[in-house]
Amino acid sequence: MSQHQPDPYGTVLDVDASELDRLRLLERAADPGTVAAFERIGVAPGWRCLEVGAGAGSIAGWLADRAGAGSVVATDVDVRFLDDLAERGVRVLRHDVVADPAPGDAFDLIHLRHLLVHLPARRAVLDRLVSWLAPGGWLVVEDAHISPDLINRAAVRAARAGVVRLLSERVGSDFSTWASTLPLPLEEAGLTDAEVGATAMTVRGGTPSARLGQLGLERLSPQLVAAGILTAEDLASARTAFADPNLLDHSHVLFRAVARKPR
Ligand SMILES: C[S@@+](CC[C@H](N)C(=O)[O-])C[C@H]1O[C@@H](n2cnc3c(N)ncnc32)[C@H](O)[C@@H]1O
Repeated sequence: MSQHQPDPYGTVLDVDASELDRLRLLERAADPGTVAAFERIGVAPGWRCLEVGAGAGSIAGWLADRAGAGSVVATDVDVRFLDDLAERGVRVLRHDVVADPAPGDAFDLIHLRHLLVHLPARRAVLDRLVSWLAPGGWLVVEDAHISPDLINRAAVRAARAGVVRLLSERVGSDFSTWASTLPLPLEEAGLTDAEVGATAMTVRGGTPSARLGQLGLERLSPQLVAAGILTAEDLASARTAFADPNLLDHSHVLFRAVARKPR
């Protein structure tokens, strides 16, 4: 499939370091909430499932266990971490959700996490996703809202704000006005029975959650310094603060919305 718009904050910003590590930490933090949502809507054997932007693949793997590997399609513009899924019988596609043709249709479940927030065309992508759902099929969208003021260390506050600014300016990511509007965009796209919840993905200094924050910062450090957004000293101060057990960072709030296509 073509690559209209490569991974916005991978290829465009030319960052790669420790990506698998970072994706696995993301999964560890977010998977329990995602699975709880799937249990609530009743994902069952035989459901045709689409995992968009599958990342390191844990959620597509869970869907394969529940629905059957042959019922699951996992897409990403970067499929290098999805070989295990393909070996298990999941259909793995290198696929750009913004531009490529439908990776199938009549899905009973489509799930995206930490993806629409980065895509300037997020509203148009929602319309595409809705057209790929079966009547009665569920769309589950999870995205982050970031409020740096909910951090008790100035160095990490500045670092988070810097990352938000860089991704907004260079990629078009929207960490301040998108996720907190869910599920309204799903309803505007024609879906019904919408529900939404939010969880603060609290970071405590010195724990794996802080390592996730630190990795996210490290992968963008060269760009942050080159753009004049943060200095090397700012980055060093943030690194020290991420190791401090007294650091509390509630800035990353994950919104999870579910809604379904009318029958
Ligand atoms: C922040 S990661 C999240 C991974 C996974 N959804 C999770 O939450 O664990 C975003 C993922 O979306 C993929 N991605 C970025 N742009 C995409 C696009 N236009 N179409 C499909 N996948 C895309 C990236 O390659 C990356 O794997």
